Formats: sequence, structure tokens, C-alpha cells
Amino acid sequence: MKFKSSVIIICILFISCQKDLELIQGCTDKNAINYNPLANINQDCRYDTLKIYQTTPYNLIVPDGFPDMNIPNDNPMTVEGVALGELLFHDPVLSANNTQSCASCHINSNAFSDPNQFSIGIDGFSGFRNASTLTNVGWNNFLNWDGSAISLEEQAFEPIRNHLEMNNTWSNVENDLNNDSVYLNLFRRAFNINYIDSNSVVKALAQYERTLISANSKYDQYIRQQIQLSPSELNGYVIFNSEKGDCFHCHGTNLFMNNEFNNNGLDIEPFIDLGLANITDNENDKGKFKTPTLRNIEYSAPYMHDGRFSTLEQVVEHYNNGGNYSTTIDPLMKNIGIGLQLTNQEKNDLIAFLKTLSDDDFLNR
Ligand code: HEC
Ligand code: HEC
Repeated sequence: MKFKSSVIIICILFISCQKDLELIQGCTDKNAINYNPLANINQDCRYDTLKIYQTTPYNLIVPDGFPDMNIPNDNPMTVEGVALGELLFHDPVLSANNTQSCASCHINSNAFSDPNQFSIGIDGFSGFRNASTLTNVGWNNFLNWDGSAISLEEQAFEPIRNHLEMNNTWSNVENDLNNDSVYLNLFRRAFNINYIDSNSVVKALAQYERTLISANSKYDQYIRQQIQLSPSELNGYVIFNSEKGDCFHCHGTNLFMNNEFNNNGLDIEPFIDLGLANITDNENDKGKFKTPTLRNIEYSAPYMHDGRFSTLEQVVEHYNNGGNYSTTIDPLMKNIGIGLQLTNQEKNDLIAFLKTLSDDDFLNR
């Protein structure tokens, strides 16, 4: 009798355990039209086979004298993707309280940078770095002043969830966008998906950012022999490109940057912001920052990673003084303690040349 009842209890327990393990059937593929967010076994996915949208390849024109742009194989540029990215870039829906878009801190007329030394996020807090220009950002092998991201796709994940910036969560962004029929339609047409996920959002943003190309400045027109530069601008060009000013070693080529990290002598040790060493943990990288492009520099003040200089005069004065010595100072900063010894006229000429890098077409896109 005793034995019988315990068998029954064991059986009941077994059955109820089995019930707990019961799996919810359905389709777990977010791209299927019958996607079931609760499902834990993947079954019977159905796809909208009638509607495979044809995308139109985007014809990215690489300006003369520029290297090819590195575009990830899994994010080819399309007309639909770029247009969607432009819309997202300007849409405050990406921030937690719908007040801030990427364009709030990357302002077109400021060469897609921020005239504030430190950008203010949605909750009124600010970080400790100046918002970078996005001029020709598609050619940057490293993103952010310390190179914390290596693709535009990877970089775009960050501002949305950064507490000092848009302070949102990606699941919130996905919810908002999936509840918007306009976005659903645009994502379908750009990526052939029925569920908008964070990966497709950053892909669209990156596609748009790769179109932020500036190559029609006064300098470019001079190189194309369409216009002449003034004697002062030409003299500045010579100072920039010779040992006299020695700017070209780091800000060289048509991109006016070297895709490297350098210490240009801003500070003595100990550094407040470790720069590249934050990422690599390498002593030798302390105080090194990404050398930025100088294109449109006239409009992207304030300057340096912490926006410490508000004018080009202050920047030129920094280099003219030779910079500060530190253990990681770049060997190309050859005039520590001596300075470049430019005359006032030469300083003005150098600034006049830097201003030839302004591109009205780009600044008024
Ligand atoms: C609250 C202001 C703010 C907002 C909003 C913002 N950014 Fe930025 N952005 C910055 C700052 C500050 C930096 C420099 C960060 C650093 O180096 O630590 C930066 C850096 C970048 C860079 C690196 C550029 C380079 O050459 O290194 C890219 C790309 C970028 N932002 C894109 C975006 C995109 C896309 C969005 C929207 C999803 C966005 N940003 C939203 C302030 C902002
Ligand atoms: C050793 C490499 C190196 C040399 C040489 C150099 N620079 Fe720089 N430059 C940098 C780096 C690195 C930064 C960013 C530093 C930072 O923010 O910490 C920078 C920043 C700048 C900026 C500010 C850019 C911005 O977006 O904030 C300007 C303007 C500038 N340099 C102009 C010049 C001029 C003009 C010369 C020549 C007189 C020159 N540089 C020589 C490496 C160099």
C-alpha cells in the first residue's frame, strides 16, 4: 500500500515537471512575418516571399587623390540605406526623451561638430571630450579621440546608450521604431527585414555617415587649377608642408590626417585624459589622441580632444611655442623648448591656409 502511493506521487511529480518544461512553439526568426517573441523552439517560419525589395547600389564617388574607402562587406551602401540613415541621424526618437538627435551635437554648419566645448546630453550632463567633426569620417580607421571604436557601425551603438548623451536603451529604440509604420516600411526597403533591430539601425547610420565627403574647398579648387590662392595663403601652404611648420607629417595627404594617434605636446605628465592608453592599457600610448582631419577646421571650433582652444590663433600659438615635453611626446614635435619661431605674418599666413580647407558645399549640405 505504502509502495503504491509513493509510485503515484512520483508519477504526478514527473508529469508536472514535464509540463514546466513544455516549450512554446513558434518562429524565432525576427525576419519572418510570423515571428513570435515568446517562442523558444523555431518552427514554421513564414516569409513574405512576394515582397523582396530590390535595393539600388549607392554610387559613392571617391574624390581624386583620396584613397578608397573601407566599406564593410556586410553593409554595402544603397540609396535606400543612406536616405534612411540620414533620417535616423536627424531624428530625436533615438534619445530616451525624444529631444536629441545625432545632429544636435554634430551640426552641419559646424562641420558636423559641436561649438560647445563639451556637448550637453539629454539630462543636462556633459562629458569631457569635444564632439569630433564628421568631415570625411568614412576614411577614419579609428573612431573617437582614443580610438575606442574601429567602424562607424560599432561607434553608432555608443551615443544612444551613453548616459551622458542620448541615455536610451537599444530595446527602447527597437520598440519605438517597430511601432512606427513609416520606419518599418523604410527598413524593409533598405534591408529586406520585417523586424528592426539595433544592427540595422547602426548600419543605416554608418551608410549615411560615409556620404559626409568634403572635397571641394578652395584648396581643392586650387589643386584642380580652377582658382589661384592669395600670396598669404600660398605662403601658409609652404609653411604647412615644409620643415618650417612641419604640420604635414601628421596632417598630411588629401585627408589632412594620418589615421594614427600622436601626442602633440598639449600637456605635461600626469595626463588627465590618458587617450589611446585608455583602450590599449599601454604606458607608451598615454597622452596620444587621434590626429584629426583639418578640413573645415575654420568651422569646427573649439579645438583638441577637450576643446581647450577656441581659436586657430591659439592652436598656432601652441605649435609655435613647440609644445610641452612628456615621455610619449611625438618625435615629430621637434621644437620642444625652441618653438617654430614663426613671425606674426607667418602665423597669419598659416591660418589663412588652414581656412582654404573650408568647403561651402559641405557646410551647407
Ligand atoms: C550629446 C552629444 C552627442 C550626441 C547626441 C552624439 N554624439 Fe557623436 N560624438 C560626441 C562626442 C563628445 C564625441 C567624441 C567622443 C570621444 O572621442 O570620446 C563624438 C564622436 C562621434 C564620432 C567619432 C568621429 C571620429 O572621427 O572619431 C562619430 C562617428 C559620432 N560621434 C557619430 C554619432 C552618431 C551616429 C550619433 C547618433 C546616434 C551621435 N554621434 C550622437 C557627441 C555626441
Ligand atoms: C606629431 C603630430 C602632429 C603635428 C606635427 C601637428 N599636429 Fe596638429 N594635431 C595632432 C594631434 C594628435 C591632434 C589632436 C590632439 C588632441 O586633441 O589631443 C592635433 C590637433 C590639431 C588641431 C585641432 C583639430 C581639431 O579638430 O580639434 C589643429 C587645428 C592642428 N592640429 C593644426 C596643426 C598645425 C597647423 C600643425 C603645424 C604647425 C600641426 N597641427 C602639427 C598631431 C599633430
